[in-house]
Amino acid sequence: MTTATRTIVMTGATRGIGLEAAREFLRRSPDTHLVVLGRGSSAAQVLPSLREVSPHVSTVDIDLSSKASVAAAGAQLEDLLDSGELPPLRGLVFNAGVQFSNALATTVDGYEKTFAVNVMSTHQLLRQLHPHIQAPARIVVTVSDAHFGDLRHTGGTMPAPQWAIPEISRPGAFHRSGDVRAGRRAYVTSKLGGIHLVHEWARRLPDGIDIVSYNPSLVVGTGLARESGGAFPFLMRWIIPLLTVTPLVDTPVPAGEKLADAILSVTPAATGAYIHRKKATASSTESYDTDRERALWNWLEQVYGQPTEGAKSAYDIRPSPVRDRDR
Ligand SMILES: NC(=O)c1ccc[n+]([C@@H]2O[C@H](COP(=O)([O-])OP(=O)(O)OC[C@H]3O[C@@H](n4cnc5c(N)ncnc54)[C@H](OP(=O)(O)O)[C@@H]3O)[C@@H](O)[C@H]2O)c1
Repeated sequence: MTTATRTIVMTGATRGIGLEAAREFLRRSPDTHLVVLGRGSSAAQVLPSLREVSPHVSTVDIDLSSKASVAAAGAQLEDLLDSGELPPLRGLVFNAGVQFSNALATTVDGYEKTFAVNVMSTHQLLRQLHPHIQAPARIVVTVSDAHFGDLRHTGGTMPAPQWAIPEISRPGAFHRSGDVRAGRRAYVTSKLGGIHLVHEWARRLPDGIDIVSYNPSLVVGTGLARESGGAFPFLMRWIIPLLTVTPLVDTPVPAGEKLADAILSVTPAATGAYIHRKKATASSTESYDTDRERALWNWLEQVYGQPTEGAKSAYDIRPSPVRDRDR
């Protein structure tokens, strides 16, 4: 039993931007219990260092690339919240993200892994946990300005996204899917998907439960490039760090502080908004496509319509009033 007064659940808190954000968040919010959702060994490794900041931290095992694992973690969280072992849930942070050297990586469920981890698992966990969230609450989904896919935002290192549901959920959906460029395309497309998901959830969540996307921009010194292939790991290690003296590139500590600002609502933003570092601003024109967002929602609901093994129940998200919000 924790003496904290509220709970925040976070993915991607085991390294990089998320680990720094978790540290900063615990420092600034001593009355909050942070549940780190992470793969067993990663979560176990960071727990002692987070406990040095606050006693109110625990971990729940999750592999975001597995539907059964996400469902089991969700059910465990539900039990902890229902029994009062965790105080009321006041926020979720979906910060985990992956990028691969091709568009062929496949999950145990047969989905393309970038899309499964970066988009599908967010929806699965949110649909399972949203009835437990108590207002006022803020949900943050880490996305990327790479979703613009243009020279200005990616310096030419990333191709444009290519949206097609349900095709992009399957391995091999992009031209020459075995190539590094296809892996990058899968990544930027998944980050566009994260923004679409935020928009659609913002229309459906009740008042007082806000959802925003957060773009850290380019951040060196994280693990993101490790499986991305091509010249990217080299650029991230040796060349791009030289740019940290410019405002173009961040390092994990300041990027984590900005994510903590987003989580704690220090950065003002209406529900559905896209936060670029510390400021709510517009995401790409393409990212505001309500038909596409509705289609994504419907497809995800088809996928998760039946409770997966380990899930306690299926939830009906329709009753929340559907509305368009200021973005
Ligand atoms: N770095 C950048 O330049 C940049 C730019 C824009 C947006 N972003 C976004 O920022 C977020 C954080 O990225 P980062 O750069 O800090 O990368 P990172 O150091 O690689 O951190 C990624 C996090 O996601 C977790 N994760 C990955 N796959 C998982 C899985 N299957 N199950 C559970 N957890 C999983 C990792 O856990 P493990 O510790 O177990 O690996 C880790 O905590 C991502 O969403 C990324 O897309 C990054």
